[in-house]
This record gives sequence, structure tokens and C-alpha cells, in this order.
Amino acid sequence: MRDRREVLRLEGLRKSYNIGQPNEVEVLHGVDLCVDSADFAALVGPSGSGKSTLLNQIGLLDSPTDGELYLLGKPTREMDDEARTALRGRNIGFVFQFHHLIGAFTALENVLMPVMVARGKPDRETLDRARGLLADVGLEKYADRKPDQLSGGQQQRVAIARALITRPALLLADEPTGNLDTKTAADVFELLRRFNAQFGCAVLVVTHDPRLADTCDRTITLVDGRIDGDERHDAARADAS
Ligand SMILES: Nc1ncnc2c1ncn2[C@@H]1O[C@H](COP(=O)(O)OP(=O)(O)OP(=O)(O)O)[C@@H](O)[C@H]1O
Ligand SMILES: [Mg+2]
Repeated sequence: MRDRREVLRLEGLRKSYNIGQPNEVEVLHGVDLCVDSADFAALVGPSGSGKSTLLNQIGLLDSPTDGELYLLGKPTREMDDEARTALRGRNIGFVFQFHHLIGAFTALENVLMPVMVARGKPDRETLDRARGLLADVGLEKYADRKPDQLSGGQQQRVAIARALITRPALLLADEPTGNLDTKTAADVFELLRRFNAQFGCAVLVVTHDPRLADTCDRTITLVDGRIDGDERHDAARADAS
């Protein structure tokens, strides 16, 4: 078995929108959750149950109203924006339903983006890593193509390579396959699975597709802003490792 270390811990996490206004609404009602480095977990639940809201809190893109969120053991509630941005940049990779690639940049430049934002011009090692990731997602021949010269599935694979360039401890994906046909969606999940094993990168992926959720080791179900189920079904994999 691979080493497991805690990547994420949520304690009593609450999130309200429109605080102090007549339309104030609490969307997450005290979520407790632990994710460790070996996890390959699906986050499922009805539309409006708070999955994207939860992912945005976990990704430090937004701040909870109450409760604590530990990333790699560090409490984040009291952190200022600068510290949160640095922690996010170093440790979290994102893949969204729509890839958000930059149209004017090549596939390779898009993969390098997170590093360039953080550190400026990439060094040799980073360039090699970006090319390696493009090869890992089967796109080594497409490094110089712009996004509009790639298929939807290829664009999403570039987005996955981009999310991994910083070697994040946690990869968050919000319906990364919502836009793709069944076969391409399964391929994207396969890639996420491979990187989870290869890099020991915890993966938390929102999906509406029960078949894709079944390929994960763990299914966390959110209903009305509360965790309604958290099942591990990784017995086969644990036996194999
Ligand atoms: N910025 C916001 N301001 C006010 N309410 C919001 C905001 N963002 C989300 N909500 C509300 O919070 C609830 C949860 O939304 P969220 O987007 O997290 O759901 P979801 O589970 O991701 O849904 P879906 O499966 O449709 O993507 C919804 O009722 C939504 O209307
Ligand atoms: Mg959503």
C-alpha cells in the first residue's frame, strides 16, 4: 500500500451567500470531510446540492463562513489573500467543465501557464516536465497547436496537463467530462486515475455520471449542503497494491 497522508480536512464547514441581505442563504451546513493523498474520490449529488460551492472552498477560491479547512495540515481560515493564493498555487490543481485554455497560446504554453504566473519564464526542467505531461496525455505531437485546433477531449487533456504542472497535492475537477462524449469522458477519468497513482496526487472530482463515479475508489454524496454518504469501494485496488 502506498503511504497515505492527510491532504485535506474540513471541520464544520459552512458557507452562506449574500450575508446580511434579505436573500442570505446558507448552502453548506457544516461539512466534515477528510481526503488523503491516495484518494481518488467522486463528489456526487443533485443539482444545487452545493458541490461546486464546496469545491470552491476546498480550492481556496472562496472563503467559508464558518468552520475550518486544513490543507496539508495548515489551517486556512485566518490566512490573508496572499498566503491563500500562494498555498493554492503550490498545492492545488483545477480542471473545470470548460477547459478555460487561453486561445492565443499553444498547448505547451497553456500547460506552462501556472508556473509562469508564479515564477515567470520557465526553466529547462519545467519545460521538460510540460512536454512530458503532454506526452502522458497523448498529445506530444500537438504541443504547438492552439486550442481551436484541438478537439474538445484534447483540449480537456491539455487542461489536465496544465493542472498537474505544479505537481499539486490535490487535484480538483468540477464536471471535467460534462462536455464530452462517453468514450472521451472515460478516457479523461482514466488519465486522472493514472496521475493519482503515479504522482500520489489526491483527486476529488464532481460528476453527474454514476458509471464514472463507480470507477472511483470513494463516493462522497452531498445532499442539500450536507454529506449524505461517504463510501469506499477500493477493495480490489487495495488488494492489488
Ligand atoms: N454566488 C452565489 N450566490 C447565491 N447563491 C449561490 C451562489 N452560487 C451558488 N448559489 C446557490 O447555492 C446552491 C448550491 O450551488 P452549487 O453551484 O454549489 O450546486 P452544485 O451542486 O454544484 O449544482 P450543479 O450540479 O447544478 O452544478 C444553489 O442553490 C445555488 O443557487
Ligand atoms: Mg456545480
